[in-house]
Amino acid sequence: MLLSQVEHNCRFSVAPMLDWTDRHYRYFARLMSRHTLLYTEMVTTGAIIHGKGDYLGYNEQEHPLALQLGGSDPADLALCAKRAQELGYDEINLNVGCPSDRVQNGRFGACLMAEPELVARCVAAMREAVDLPVTVKTRIGIDDQDSYEFLTQFIDTVSAAGCDSFTIHARKAWLSGLSPKENREIPPLDYERAYQLKRDYPALTLALNGGIKTLQECQTHLQHLDGVMVGREAYQNPYLLASVDTELYGQTTPVVERQAVVEAMVPYIERHLARGGRVNHVSRHMLGLFNGLPGARGWRRTLSEKAHLADAGPGLLLEAMACIGELPADA
Ligand SMILES: Cc1cc2nc3c(=O)[nH]c(=O)nc-3n(C[C@H](O)[C@H](O)[C@H](O)COP(=O)(O)O)c2cc1C
Repeated sequence: MLLSQVEHNCRFSVAPMLDWTDRHYRYFARLMSRHTLLYTEMVTTGAIIHGKGDYLGYNEQEHPLALQLGGSDPADLALCAKRAQELGYDEINLNVGCPSDRVQNGRFGACLMAEPELVARCVAAMREAVDLPVTVKTRIGIDDQDSYEFLTQFIDTVSAAGCDSFTIHARKAWLSGLSPKENREIPPLDYERAYQLKRDYPALTLALNGGIKTLQECQTHLQHLDGVMVGREAYQNPYLLASVDTELYGQTTPVVERQAVVEAMVPYIERHLARGGRVNHVSRHMLGLFNGLPGARGWRRTLSEKAHLADAGPGLLLEAMACIGELPADA
């Protein structure tokens, strides 16, 4: 299928995850699903405007691809959105969900839920600057501000500025006292609140995030909402992605086999090494590929022990795969 034939929509996406959904993970993920919407890690406006690294680089294969921005200065966000549009990204997403102290000190992430007017100005500035969809990923509340009215006031204000697509991480964030990891586990999930939002705002495109582990659960949520976003499970058990196109997008293309995915990553790693990279930059994202199958531990161990070595080559993937026995037909 040609890349241009794949529609950009939020029916199924992999969540933005710092240090996890880098370009190598995204290339790997794309080999398993053509239709999944992929998000970058959050990139701050400061890094894009003042940093020296290549924060926006990606591989053409990754489309449809959304850039997640962290920031709260409308002019800076507009500048970054414009740069992203020039580079060919398909969507700009604003992070209103991250609770880390570092992010709060920069006055962005989840603490922006308390400043809907500012988020509205950020959205308006980005929409003015680009033709791309501008979307927002948010929590359902922060600290004691966790009523349904607090959430709807936020949605009202931000949608009035032109954002018509939100991803709702269906738990609130505690802005102090919990680490980011605890903030992904301790506040309880409230899917019903997201469903209620869709009933009350049928014209908005709303995707659900948080705690989703199977495509069957995705099917259930899709009866209530426009999209589902999966984070940790799509990283730790990436082969989940191989069934997304058939199960959630109604495609009849055959499901790619794990072995074919590994073989397709070999030339990718060769190119990465030729640019001075290391095997583990890429292979670290592949550790969960054989989860649950005989030999999965050997696969993980071989990669973990050898992929960081300076002389490791792409053949290491094939060596690690030799630990996997004959796969059962339904694996
Ligand atoms: C390692 C890690 C990094 C994350 N980084 C980001 C980020 O950069 N931007 C963001 O909006 N959320 C980030 N998140 C939160 C996820 O996008 C998602 O909202 C959360 O993990 C809940 O979804 P899940 O239960 O499917 O994992 C991160 C989560 C993890 C585990």
